[in-house]
Formats: sequence, structure tokens, C-alpha cells
Amino acid sequence: MVKNLKSRFIVLDGPDGCGKSTQVNLLAEYLKKHRLKVSCFRDPGSTDTGEKIRKILLDRGNILNDRTELLLYMASRSQLWGECIAPALKKKNCVLLDRWLSSTCAYQGFAGGVGIAKVLDIAAHSLERVWPDLTIILDVDLKTARQRMKRGLDRMELKSAAYHKKVRAGFLELAELRDDIVVIDASGNVEAVHEKVIQTITSFFK
Ligand code: TMP
Repeated sequence: MVKNLKSRFIVLDGPDGCGKSTQVNLLAEYLKKHRLKVSCFRDPGSTDTGEKIRKILLDRGNILNDRTELLLYMASRSQLWGECIAPALKKKNCVLLDRWLSSTCAYQGFAGGVGIAKVLDIAAHSLERVWPDLTIILDVDLKTARQRMKRGLDRMELKSAAYHKKVRAGFLELAELRDDIVVIDASGNVEAVHEKVIQTITSFFK
């Protein structure tokens, strides 16, 4: 399976508290152990500009409407593609992303009310590449997610429970629309979820 992952673009995404950053790190370690060259990035972020945009987006002191959020996330992503992802794929690395466009669909599109269709339309005009090869959604209910979020909450995490419930529903709705989005139950412990991530990738790229 590992040799099929050269130049592949794989995203782990899901609601806040789903554990995706931990799972991206575990997956990267696993693939590196199998001698694959792996590049990991986070969206928003990973470039100088992207990290500055990330600060604006997550700063609790800022008031941003859903469209402003959408455009800032998209701007950071466009920079990330050009500076980091495209060069890594060109080197035949496997690229792992902590979030991508699926988040904008679920947060600003579905929960924020902009609409998934409009997000996809703006993405088509903003990004050189819209969809990864595979997006894995780590699905957790709000209660489990909240228990995992112990640190000080940022501007997005502080949005209402109703908003975050819609985010989860948005990810599930998006997964219905595309064959390259796979939902896995991420309510179990770290090792169990890691196992499911590996199984999903193995069967998708076999
Ligand atoms: P992170 O802390 O998981 O890296 O994500 C930052 C926050 O930004 C998180 O609350 C999810 C949110 N977000 C969006 O609302 N839209 C997006 O397009 C992305 C990528 C993240």
C-alpha cells in the first residue's frame, strides 16, 4: 500500500476535538517507518502568511463575519498550496494535511450559512487544486469533542454548541456528496482510531 502513496494528497479533518492533529502525527510516523517521504502541513497555517492569517482567524478579540472567515481561510490555503503542497507533491512525497477545504464547507458553508455550493464555487476560483486524493473525516459527537478540548478555547472553538453541532452535520453531509471523503468513528481511543485510519487508507489506495 505504502508505495501507492507517493505524490498522494491526504487530508484528515473533522469537528474541533476530533483528534485529527494527533492522528496526522501518528500516520506520518507510521508512513515514515515504512520508508515513505512524508510532508505534513496544517490549514490554516504552515506558511509565514498563513500563520499570520491563522492568528487573525483564531484571535478571540476579532469580530469576523462568515464571508470574511471564508475568504481568509481560502487565502491561507492558496498560499499553502503554492509554497508547500505543490512542491512536496512534485518531489513525490505523500502530503498529509491537518484540515483543508472540507472544513470551509462544514464551518463557513454549512454551519455559518454561506452554503456548501457557494464555498465550492469560490474554491474553484481561488485554488489551483480543490480536492485531495482522499479526505478522512474523524467523526465525534459534541460531548466527546468537548471533553478532549481542555486548553483555552480560540475564537472558532468559542462559537455556540448549536454552531458546532451543525459543523458535524456539515461534514457528514459533505461526505454524502463525494466518494473521496470517508467518515470514520473517532470516539474511541487514540490507538483504535489510528488503526481505522490505516485501514481506510489501505483499502482506498489498494
Ligand atoms: P485547528 O485548530 O484544527 O487547526 O483549526 C483552526 C480552527 O479553524 C478550527 O476551529 C476549525 C476552523 N476552520 C474553519 O472554520 N474553516 C476552515 O476552512 C478551516 C481550515 C478551519
